[in-house]
Amino acid sequence: MILTDVKVPFVDLSWQHKPIQGQIEEVIKQVIKRGDFTLGKALAEFETAFAQTCGVRYGIGVSSGTDAIALGLKACGIAKGDEVLIPANTFIATVIGVIQAEATPILVDCQPDTALIDLEAAAKAITPKTKAIVPVHLYGQMVSPQQLLDFADTYNLLIFEDSAQAHLAQREGYISGSVGLAAGFSFYPSKNLGCFGSGGIVITNEENVAQKVRSLRNYGAPRKYFHTDIGTNSRLDTIQAAILKVKLPFLAEWNQARNQAAKQYDRTLNSLQSQGITLLKNQSNLGHVYHLYVIRLSQFLASHRETIQQKLNEQGVQTGIHYPIPCHLQPAYRYLGYQPGDFPSAELLCEQVLSLPMYPGLEQNQIDLVSEKLWQIITKY
Ligand SMILES: Cc1ncc(COP(=O)(O)O)c(C=O)c1O
Repeated sequence: MILTDVKVPFVDLSWQHKPIQGQIEEVIKQVIKRGDFTLGKALAEFETAFAQTCGVRYGIGVSSGTDAIALGLKACGIAKGDEVLIPANTFIATVIGVIQAEATPILVDCQPDTALIDLEAAAKAITPKTKAIVPVHLYGQMVSPQQLLDFADTYNLLIFEDSAQAHLAQREGYISGSVGLAAGFSFYPSKNLGCFGSGGIVITNEENVAQKVRSLRNYGAPRKYFHTDIGTNSRLDTIQAAILKVKLPFLAEWNQARNQAAKQYDRTLNSLQSQGITLLKNQSNLGHVYHLYVIRLSQFLASHRETIQQKLNEQGVQTGIHYPIPCHLQPAYRYLGYQPGDFPSAELLCEQVLSLPMYPGLEQNQIDLVSEKLWQIITKY
């Protein structure tokens, strides 16, 4: 087997961790010393700090982004029999969150130029059972808050934002997670704000929603050994919260670095638009936090996507696909009754997308290298 020298990894967290490693080790030591491993001091501090950063009153740490959606929706009053609108083009956790809240996910197509949920398509999927919409701020770009609020108002729906890929993203003066009744975030390690394992948070301005999530994440117990809800065990570990608290002050700067890197990709890839590459639209300029930098390949190039990825890999450039199969065509969710062709834009995107390396610390020469190698490979077709 030939081992390729990786010149541009898909994600590299070492750049962000190196300067703060000492601080992180110190806060971990403090948690060990205090012994408050669950629901400890650093958790409460981080919850407050994260909520404040998002301009929202309450933050409730949970054990994953998936649980943030599930427990958050439940706390917002979503229950069995309710229908919840979600995009077909998202990570599967959005679907899982809705199902774990015992509601029915109603999938909706996306806009091909942004990959975000198509609200006109969403309007057509509404029935008397529809109670909520979960917009996914995919790849780091928010769904238009103004359009979302108008939509929710027109159809009397609640908004629960899936902000797992959009920490501190902004659009139209709103911060990701502050538009709806509540929102869920993931702190999976490679997220814009990531912990050292699994973690998530629900944020909300509503005290009753916050209290409910607090109870649900801790066995449904608002106080010890007194259970008012059928809850679960889904707390954000104190150690993870302590790490996140060290990282939080750097988030805006890291997001800026992602945005700058994306601008440079845009510039260098622009000339490839005539060669079968399409750039996704950034409708929020500096507010797009580029969790992922995703391009589209022409239908012809897309039929060679695997080979293109392999050739890039041989040249030391790692890539990803987000996502190869839309949610409605995943085997586990066949029971929802969707068919190929139901969501043409989501299906087309799944065939055509290619995610290029993206992380703070990605250097200009690395971006140039990715663009150059991509150019060399695709112009041979
Ligand atoms: C859009 C989206 N929603 C939800 C999640 C779930 O987060 P987690 O992996 O922390 O459960 C993720 C991330 O994995 C995601 O990308």
